[in-house]
Amino acid sequence: MIPFKKWFGSNTEGEEAARSLAADNIPNHVAVIMDGNGRWAQKRGLPRVAGHHSGMKNVKKITMAANSIGVNVLTLYAFSTENWKRPKEEVDYLMKLPLEFFPKEIDELVANNVRIRMTGWQEGLPEYTLKAVQDAIDRTAGNTGLILNFALNYGSRKEMLRGIQQIAQDALDGKLKPEEIDEARFSKYLLTDPLPEPDLLIRTSGELRISNFMLWQLAYSELWFTELAWPEFTEERFYEAVQEYQRRARRYGGL
Ligand code: IPE
Ligand code: IPE
Ligand code: MG
Repeated sequence: MIPFKKWFGSNTEGEEAARSLAADNIPNHVAVIMDGNGRWAQKRGLPRVAGHHSGMKNVKKITMAANSIGVNVLTLYAFSTENWKRPKEEVDYLMKLPLEFFPKEIDELVANNVRIRMTGWQEGLPEYTLKAVQDAIDRTAGNTGLILNFALNYGSRKEMLRGIQQIAQDALDGKLKPEEIDEARFSKYLLTDPLPEPDLLIRTSGELRISNFMLWQLAYSELWFTELAWPEFTEERFYEAVQEYQRRARRYGGL
């Protein structure tokens, strides 16, 4: 039995799955590639952006589910460095979602001690998007509960290349020697520092790929995929993913 931090209604979907989880093996960091919004909408004869709106509404639900079982970090892949290739109207719509999401949800997030964080590049993002995110980060800076980390304008290859450039510069400046560059040192140059590496990666929408997400950090993460699109992903499925995670044997190359 797990000690629930909070009940969200008496008949939360997946209550039973949540109850059956082993309290001593909850993934510390869960990362989610929230995929399938556009196809979910198109299947229903709606414009792609309607899928993004529904997807946004799902964020709080899954955040609360993660919080309720004691996950410490929830990273949500919201916009990749490659997503700029999309039509301008769709990108513009996505960039405005934080302006709706945070004012609507921030009180409840604060009430649940959630801390907002962003992993990604500020450069390139519209001022209003950054302000909405920054306001939420500032407002929740003192919170000590779940870290809700938005991967926004994030791409792993760029992250690693920038890190390598900084390391090279620091080596030239005499701040470190090449032989001192080990895994721990390299991790400090990544945007995710000082977050722990994801224990569990969830990807929705049936795509079986990583799409330039945390290539270094996912080295030993457990991967879990579902055919469900992000807007139709439920708390129940989330708990099932954690259940499955708990059945896995993580060996890290050992026995
Ligand atoms: C994920 O849904 C959200 C973002 C990438 C911003 P998609 O927009 O990729 O939806 P599909 O995969 O095209 O259905
Ligand atoms: C990954 O989804 C990025 C996000 C969910 C933000 P994509 O829809 O961009 O990935 P691909 O293009 O299918 O690989
Ligand atoms: Mg997609």
